[in-house]
Amino acid sequence: MPHLMNTYARLSIAFTHGEGAIVFDEQGRRYLDALAGIAVNTLGHAHPRLVKALADQAGRLIHTSNLYRVREQEILSDKLAALSGMDEVFFCNSGCEANEAAIKLARLYGHQQGIDNPAIIVMEKSFHGRTLATLSATGSRKVQAGFEPLVAGFLRVPFNDLAAVEAVAQHNANVVAVLFEPIQGEGGINVAQDEYMQGLRRICDTKGWLFMVDEVQCGIGRTGRWFAYQRVGIRPDVMTLAKGLGSGVPIGACLAAGKAAGVFKPGNHGSTFGGNPFACVAALTTLDIIEQDGLLEHARTIGNKIHADLLGALKGVSGVVSIRGEGLMIGVELDRPCGDLVQRALDAGLVINVTADKVVRLLPALIFSATDADELVAILSRLIREFLEA
Ligand SMILES: Cc1ncc(COP(=O)(O)O)c(C=O)c1O
Repeated sequence: MPHLMNTYARLSIAFTHGEGAIVFDEQGRRYLDALAGIAVNTLGHAHPRLVKALADQAGRLIHTSNLYRVREQEILSDKLAALSGMDEVFFCNSGCEANEAAIKLARLYGHQQGIDNPAIIVMEKSFHGRTLATLSATGSRKVQAGFEPLVAGFLRVPFNDLAAVEAVAQHNANVVAVLFEPIQGEGGINVAQDEYMQGLRRICDTKGWLFMVDEVQCGIGRTGRWFAYQRVGIRPDVMTLAKGLGSGVPIGACLAAGKAAGVFKPGNHGSTFGGNPFACVAALTTLDIIEQDGLLEHARTIGNKIHADLLGALKGVSGVVSIRGEGLMIGVELDRPCGDLVQRALDAGLVINVTADKVVRLLPALIFSATDADELVAILSRLIREFLEA
């Protein structure tokens, strides 16, 4: 046995290489990848332009340090600001780190307002990461169990329930921010309603709270927009990104705007690796290719096709509770635990995931083609039917 800590219930398969939406395992078997490393491989596998950009950058400069200016970081911050309307960016290496930065920023903002015990409103079924602060913010006992004492300062409310947030607003003077996912990923592809997002923005404005969106899973074009919050034409005060930003090269970002900008000062936060030239080139190339190849529109078109075709193929199948999501972030909820479907899909040459016990989760690369979509729907709808009829 390899000397790995036993932190994952791994499947026995190991992949060796890939091309586009296809990956191959050690036996040379071919799989259609409808998971993209859990929303990470934005451009699919071995995208030639990304491979070249990374090889060139590796041959030039991989890492310096945040002791110095990093030009690639500056260019990437300008690009992200232009796409999002945010004002400034802190770079790190992962989603939990981006959320740690957001949580620290919110606390510092609170202290600057004279609030000594700042609290952040978070949601049931949310997922924000596995570090102590982010697992405390996460709405899953499974993630938290055994790691008590949890980090204090989080107030949990049901998702998509504006009245619950209004009630907290009336009674708690320590609140400084709301942190939520516009589409909950790990929680089962739960989409925030438009009125909910608009209502949260309004309450935050009224109360002077920071409106913080975790776009780690739903951001970077996945929903057919650069960022999922853009669906309702609002701007958050803080946004976190990771996963798809570097197409597989680890990079995370915490962006701030308006009253959240300028909160951090030198010495308040930092990261050794965060935003190194190599990771920034991965992100810059990802964003450029999304733009040049029209992948936002493509994600919307292919996502709508998969959604509609699944609805058609599973129409009237008892046991299918709902099919939901936006763009290439799709969940199929069944009426029973369906983790077994993951292995059955692998046996059929398809990579999918099941989250929240009963939700088949699809997060394909933004380059997923119409042919890929047809293959996915054909295999998955057959597997779901067989599973429910067994
Ligand atoms: C919405 C969201 N936030 C944060 C994270 C944590 O990201 P990471 O695993 O890169 O720390 C995840 C990971 O699944 C996520 O889906």
